[in-house]
Amino acid sequence: MKEIKIALLGFGTVGMGVYELLKKNSELIKERVGIRPVVKKILVRDPKKKRDIKIDQKYFTTNIEEILEDPEISIVCELIGGIEPAKTYILKALQKGKEVVTANKAILAQYGNEIWEEARKRKRFIGFEASVGGGIPIIKTIKESLIGNSISSIIGIINGTTNYILTRMLENNFQFKDALKMAQAKGYAEADPTLDIKGIDSAHKISILASLAFGFYIPVSEVYTEGIEDIDLMDLKFAKDFGYIVKLLAFAKKRKRKIEIRVHPTLIPETHVLTSVRLNYNALYITGDFVGDILLYGLGAGKEPTASAVVSDIIDAIEYSYFEKKPFIKYPLTKNNDFFNIRSIEEVEFKYYFRFSAIDKPGVLSKISGILGKHNISIASVVQIGRQKKKGSVPVVMLTHETKEKNVNKALEEIDKLDVVTASTKKFRILE
Ligand SMILES: NC(=O)c1ccc[n+]([C@@H]2O[C@H](COP(=O)([O-])OP(=O)(O)OC[C@H]3O[C@@H](n4cnc5c(N)ncnc54)[C@H](OP(=O)(O)O)[C@@H]3O)[C@@H](O)[C@H]2O)c1
Repeated sequence: MKEIKIALLGFGTVGMGVYELLKKNSELIKERVGIRPVVKKILVRDPKKKRDIKIDQKYFTTNIEEILEDPEISIVCELIGGIEPAKTYILKALQKGKEVVTANKAILAQYGNEIWEEARKRKRFIGFEASVGGGIPIIKTIKESLIGNSISSIIGIINGTTNYILTRMLENNFQFKDALKMAQAKGYAEADPTLDIKGIDSAHKISILASLAFGFYIPVSEVYTEGIEDIDLMDLKFAKDFGYIVKLLAFAKKRKRKIEIRVHPTLIPETHVLTSVRLNYNALYITGDFVGDILLYGLGAGKEPTASAVVSDIIDAIEYSYFEKKPFIKYPLTKNNDFFNIRSIEEVEFKYYFRFSAIDKPGVLSKISGILGKHNISIASVVQIGRQKKKGSVPVVMLTHETKEKNVNKALEEIDKLDVVTASTKKFRILE
């Protein structure tokens, strides 16, 4: 019986999931592939640490060289996370002629060029299905199923933590902080949730997807990013009254020679299929010139779904090295991108939702609408919510027609300086 030996770097949530999947479905994989992938070594920080699963100590090592120098190990799965030492280990494994699988979006979004270039130079496979969308086969869909399409747009809910928080806020009447606490208690948010709530995790993932879909490396530094940490429950409710649900969306769009790449909270019409993506689920809405619109939906994180994606890459690595099946698209090309420019968000046109905090007295609305008009922003509808019995501010919610972001920024800067406006205006972009 043919076996292929693999090493896991890291034995945390994902590492354990991969080990369990390979054990449980070993026969199934052998029948389908004709080769059994077998874990030979596992790199950890602390071999003595109490683990959730029973495993023989003989697997563990703290010495990466034991893996890199072992000629029997042909596939290395990097499941450590963070940048270093994971990045060095990936590069060294490629240099040692091993195929590599990684779930590490942070490395690919920041150093993808270096990693993909090394894999190309060494003629090695590098799989990264688990880096975006957990168990959802988005990377394979772009690389293989949609290979004949020019992809014009990817819109994704690609962070389960923020989707869970926004769902709980609206459906359970929670303010952001309470919904975050609930997500942490359920294990959907880390003790330090910064990367998720500030939109950085989504930015990492959309950088990888855009690079793959558009054919050249677009680092995370190019992604315009806003998070959800300043969202008030009030806005989710007002938006709902207007027929919209607020989601943290990641966008990668190609129009002519311009690429738009951004992550921000967005109002989605209730009739749009993405509004049914609740709790910690993820979804990707992709448009290709021939396929039209497709939707991929599933769990974007967690031990089992992520292990499913890692193992699909392990099988691809076996096909690559053992059966010499060379895919047409292995990773984003590192060709120069003179042909494309990133469109600044200032140049993009959106419809907007504004919530002004304004003093409740005659003439205030005309002052605000006067400034909006001066900047070519036309109002589609306006609602003043409630009246103050005593002196104070009231929320005034407005929806606009399409207008450039730079006009909006200029107008809001002026409006927020008015003496009748008591707090910074809340602004959300609306998905068409
Ligand atoms: N968790 C998910 O649902 C999920 C989903 C998609 C992608 N990912 C990605 O998958 C990767 C792993 O995530 P995870 O949640 O499994 O992480 P985790 O639970 O924190 O596990 C990390 C593992 O790496 C080991 N490790 C950390 N630093 C090390 C070092 N310097 N040398 C050797 N071993 C080291 C740890 O060893 P000890 O056990 O000895 O501490 C631990 O076993 C990350 O890139 C993450 O972004 C995770």
